Amino acid sequence: MYSRIVGTGSYLPEKVLTNFDLEKMMDTSDEWIRERTGIERRHIAAEGQTTVDLAEPAARRALEAAGVHPSEVDFIAFGTTTPDLVFPNCGVLLQQRLGARGGPAFSVETACSGFLYALSIADKFVRAGEAKCALVVGAETLSRITDWKDRSTAVLFADGAGAVVLKPSEQPGILSTHLHADGTYKDLLYCRGGVSTGFPVEEPRMAIAMVGNEVFKLAVSWLGKAVDEALAANGIDKSELDWLVPHQANIRIIQATARRLDLPMDRVICTVAEHGNTSAASVPLALDVGVRDGRLKPGQLLLLEAFGGGFTWGSALVRL
Ligand code: COA
Repeated sequence: MYSRIVGTGSYLPEKVLTNFDLEKMMDTSDEWIRERTGIERRHIAAEGQTTVDLAEPAARRALEAAGVHPSEVDFIAFGTTTPDLVFPNCGVLLQQRLGARGGPAFSVETACSGFLYALSIADKFVRAGEAKCALVVGAETLSRITDWKDRSTAVLFADGAGAVVLKPSEQPGILSTHLHADGTYKDLLYCRGGVSTGFPVEEPRMAIAMVGNEVFKLAVSWLGKAVDEALAANGIDKSELDWLVPHQANIRIIQATARRLDLPMDRVICTVAEHGNTSAASVPLALDVGVRDGRLKPGQLLLLEAFGGGFTWGSALVRL
């Protein structure tokens, strides 16, 4: 028994913030942001719009694409580091919105790898026969933990949501997932402030702190190893891959991973220019964009990867 992706969906908040808008807010330039990151614009949640507000339309679109009624969902794994509340978790809040009751619903707090961690867990429940219709979500309102006075992070992060529906299948869908973490690098990328540590008195009371150039080097190195690991574990040569669907942090990191796989950039789904880094939402958002614009087709072999704060990272090899 395998699990298979039978529907994808995504949602972006209406408000768009361009690099030119950022030029007016801080000492930066469109040229610098585009050259160093590939980002041109990003979407930002409206005041009062929460992570679950973004996740709900993404989930409904994925369910509609799968031809599944929301009440059939019996398992929700929700990747996010920007939850609406301390509890109930975003999975439970989403379950209530969808009118799906009784099945397990939880959130996974592994920063930008949140969706891949959630997908890996859901895959195992489906394969074990314990979930018949699993909803896997990645959604974030990173604008809420962005220090808008810190140009080294404010230009990177953004808001959005993506979702997939997983069902049991006799044909291989998710071929493998590999997850990793290494907390020794915590100080290179973390969020200041927390429930048990307390919040600084000065604003912003929660904010992403990052040593960008160190993170860059480690991301390139570990994502390279992660894609090698996924291929080796499945006995697959890189020439057999149809698409790379990477975490959308920085176009230069994406290009480095594509080079490692000998994949031309026209076989890489890139949304970073339009969406910025939406953390856990980034991979399912890119996946949905590729499916809906017809580039990603049933039967194709996709490699998904992500790298996130703390650090966490991983991959999924998927037959669509
Ligand atoms: N606009 C203009 N200049 C900026 C800037 C901005 N938004 N942010 C930083 N700078 C400046 C720095 O102050 C520095 O100036 P200096 O040389 O006078 O000291 C200069 O640009 C170079 O900074 P550096 O951090 O070395 O640049 P970089 O080439 O490494 O690019 C990042 C910075 C953040 C784009 C890049 O390191 C990166 O993408 N890292 C990975 C981050 C990431 O993906 N995090 C999430 C992982 S999930």
